Amino acid sequence: MATKKSRRNPNTRRMKKSTKSNRGFKQIALFTILRDDNKKLKDIMDNILNNSDDSEIMSESFIQLKEELKIHSRAEEASVYQPMKANDDTRFLSIHAHEENALVDHLIAELGNMNIDDELWMAKFLILKQEIEQHIEHEESEIFNKLKNDFSIEELDMMAENMITLKKEEMENTFIDSI
Ligand SMILES: [Fe+2]
Repeated sequence: MATKKSRRNPNTRRMKKSTKSNRGFKQIALFTILRDDNKKLKDIMDNILNNSDDSEIMSESFIQLKEELKIHSRAEEASVYQPMKANDDTRFLSIHAHEENALVDHLIAELGNMNIDDELWMAKFLILKQEIEQHIEHEESEIFNKLKNDFSIEELDMMAENMITLKKEEMENTFIDSI
């Protein structure tokens, strides 16, 4: 018994705990990836809004928004929301975030079937914009906090790696689809 105890590294507990909170939000790669994606989405939506009198720019930007959203949300669902769903403490947040993405997909599909010059298009686009901004706000506050508190740095780094790999795959698929 005594031998067993003496073999234990007395720092193990402390070391394990320290991996959870050593890095601040800015140093966590996963948050940088998600924040960059979110900024890109916001910029494209602003571009649509700022060019509401030019249907050509609007159409091009809408295609870009659709592609970026597809790449981002598929990678995010698999690398971040799936592990969150397996954790009791983050399960509901993950389901909620998934439903936000599903609603955004639905609005994107509806807008894709509408005439961009119709005033109804812009009315619906503003709802989509609001939904995406709400998702981003929710993600960058509540979800980031929960991820930081409930997952180790190693797990967050793994999510970041998966996110990068899946985004690359999605980008290649999106490119093939558009040929
Ligand atoms: Fe997201």
